[in-house]
Amino acid sequence: MFFGFQNPSIELKFPSTTSPQKRRRLHAQISKATALLSSLPPTPMPLALLCVQQNDAFNKSQAHDVSLNDAVWPPHLRSKTLSYTIGLSCPIPRPITLLISSKLSRRRVLMALPVVDTDYLKEIDKARRDLRALIASKNCAPIMLRLAWHDAGTFDVHTKTGGPNGSIRTEEEYSHGSNNGLKIALDFCEEVKSKYAKITYADLYQLAGVVAVEITGGPTIDFVPGRKDSMISPKEGRLPDAKQGVSHLRDIFYRMGLSGKDIVALSGGHTLGRAHPERSGFDGPWTKNPLKFDNSYFVELLQGESEGLLKLPTDKALLDDPEFRGYVELYAKDEDAFFRDYAVSHKKLSELGFTPSSSSGSKVIAKDSTVLAQSAVGVVVAAAVVILSYFYEVRKRMK
Ligand code: HEM
Repeated sequence: MFFGFQNPSIELKFPSTTSPQKRRRLHAQISKATALLSSLPPTPMPLALLCVQQNDAFNKSQAHDVSLNDAVWPPHLRSKTLSYTIGLSCPIPRPITLLISSKLSRRRVLMALPVVDTDYLKEIDKARRDLRALIASKNCAPIMLRLAWHDAGTFDVHTKTGGPNGSIRTEEEYSHGSNNGLKIALDFCEEVKSKYAKITYADLYQLAGVVAVEITGGPTIDFVPGRKDSMISPKEGRLPDAKQGVSHLRDIFYRMGLSGKDIVALSGGHTLGRAHPERSGFDGPWTKNPLKFDNSYFVELLQGESEGLLKLPTDKALLDDPEFRGYVELYAKDEDAFFRDYAVSHKKLSELGFTPSSSSGSKVIAKDSTVLAQSAVGVVVAAAVVILSYFYEVRKRMK
């Protein structure tokens, strides 16, 4: 969504001791800065939030806003914003709250839902094509899948926090130990994002995950757009720890609202990629062809240790639990069953905490097809009228 500064409203609170000259000077400075902001091209980021708090008594939400400013502003605007902020901060007497916001309420700015209309769907189609090309050319399907999973896998079904909301793009979150290396995938996605301003990061990362599975030979996963972005990162520690076992796996995935079957099916994502010692401390791929999505992860798991192939403690744990083991055995012998279950579990993962709005995809398409059908009927009726009047004319002349 675009938010510009077309109608910025400025709210200034001065302490009663501030002299009228000082107030005028500040107003002038702010008007200049606002004019500068208005002249900037629209960006896909919510620009409407700029908050400078001069007294030290931050309450939590204001402190959050200030940290948001750094992360929210796209790099090419960031320096202007910051210098503007710094420029203002010097002459302002303390305590003072300076808030510039658009007419949209703060909540709407932060929590804006993308409008999934025909244009949005067109961008999704184009982004999907671009992602296919990018992932194929860079052979980066594994890390793109890991990015989608790590953005979504922070979901907490009880507090409804975390989840596939693009928050992994914040420095705070991608710097979590479990996300080591994912900045590479974030930067790849940024290449696509810069072309499709409407698409949210949340949608883009999940689309990248779906495309990664698809183009490496995996099942087609239904993708419904409309996820909203967030800059609020969950605390570190929500993703699974590879050194642990069955009960940890259940704790983590149940917290997301997922099931035992989901745990096993999704672990099959390790059919792609490898571990890197500098990122996780583990080393090696799980399968002989880490760029092919198939059921070989389960085949290898049942075969036991194999030279050059990796098995994390959490992978081995899938053999320790009777429920988990049942699925491992099923998926090792029946790839179709794995693909079917994987597609269902992946869709669930990619939609944690997301309720597709009525405008997300199907309805828009339905609306479009209704319009198309109506136009088609219109054309047929018009053609029939022309043909009939032609025959009528011919018959009249023959008489
Ligand atoms: C079940 C708990 C899981 C644990 C403990 C776990 C742990 C790990 C670890 C330690 C790595 C190595 C990272 C590196 O060194 O680069 C990794 C990589 C990977 N994980 Fe998982 N993972 C889990 C579940 C999943 C799920 C559910 C998916 C996807 C559906 C997934 C997809 C991947 C992929 C594709 C890679 C390879 C990334 C690359 O090659 O760069 N993982 N995982």
